[in-house]
Amino acid sequence: MDHPSGTAYPEPARLLDAARALPPARVSSFVLDGQVFWVKRPETLPPRMRFQKGDSAASFGRELALLRGFSQRGAPVPPVLVDDTGLVVMPDMGEPLAGLVLRVEPAQAATVLAQAAHGLATMHRTGLVHGRPSLRDLCWNGAQVTFLDLEAGARIDAGEWRQARDLVLLLHSVMRIAPDKTPLVQATLDGYRQHGAASVIGKARRFARVLAPVLVPFARFAPPPKGKLGEVAALLHLVLFLR
Ligand SMILES: Nc1ncnc2c1ncn2[C@@H]1O[C@H](COP(=O)(O)OP(=O)(O)O)[C@@H](O)[C@H]1O
Ligand SMILES: [Mg+2]
Repeated sequence: MDHPSGTAYPEPARLLDAARALPPARVSSFVLDGQVFWVKRPETLPPRMRFQKGDSAASFGRELALLRGFSQRGAPVPPVLVDDTGLVVMPDMGEPLAGLVLRVEPAQAATVLAQAAHGLATMHRTGLVHGRPSLRDLCWNGAQVTFLDLEAGARIDAGEWRQARDLVLLLHSVMRIAPDKTPLVQATLDGYRQHGAASVIGKARRFARVLAPVLVPFARFAPPPKGKLGEVAALLHLVLFLR
């Protein structure tokens, strides 16, 4: 089967058979004809979590519709090769950036993060918002950054405040995980600045300025911007960086 991306994939019926043979985990992968594929299913939640997170079948259906909508607008999301009721099969889109930034040289990490920010800015220019672009859900295949996981508030036709929120969350994720924080947050922001709207960056800075009076007094208790940081410490360092 030739996909619009130009890549040849096995027939959908074979992909579906392979997917159905897997144990029913939320996310799993298999190899067919030497290629890696990922299978995603609705979350199975205990009743208390269902109350918190909503109906998982509905949110899974929403993600599928969003994957289609995003790819129609040319966004770098995984192509859906098979969607049978209750599962989707996608090709492998590479290594999550959360691991990659720890493994590669800082200069390469900066290049890949700038490319991720470029992808985000391009999505924003067409009105798309990812919802939670954390480094866990961004993959690099050596040529391209792909955005996974549209289940955390992705939207088609979203305004600039939501775009600014996406940008803040991406920078926050870099601040949490990256070993070389300030230069890599800077490389990410520069990547966004080159391709995105200055007004979105302005809104991200306004968000930082609103939070600064609350967070900055705690700066002397916070760990330095090195190694893995907790959510609050990363937010503090991001606010100091952006304001
Ligand atoms: N198409 C894919 N290519 C590469 N990795 C993937 C792919 N789909 C899922 N993964 C891996 O599985 C993880 C979980 O998938 P994700 O869609 O984020 O599910 P969840 O909503 O449970 O977080 C991702 O963070 C990534 O590491
Ligand atoms: Mg995820």
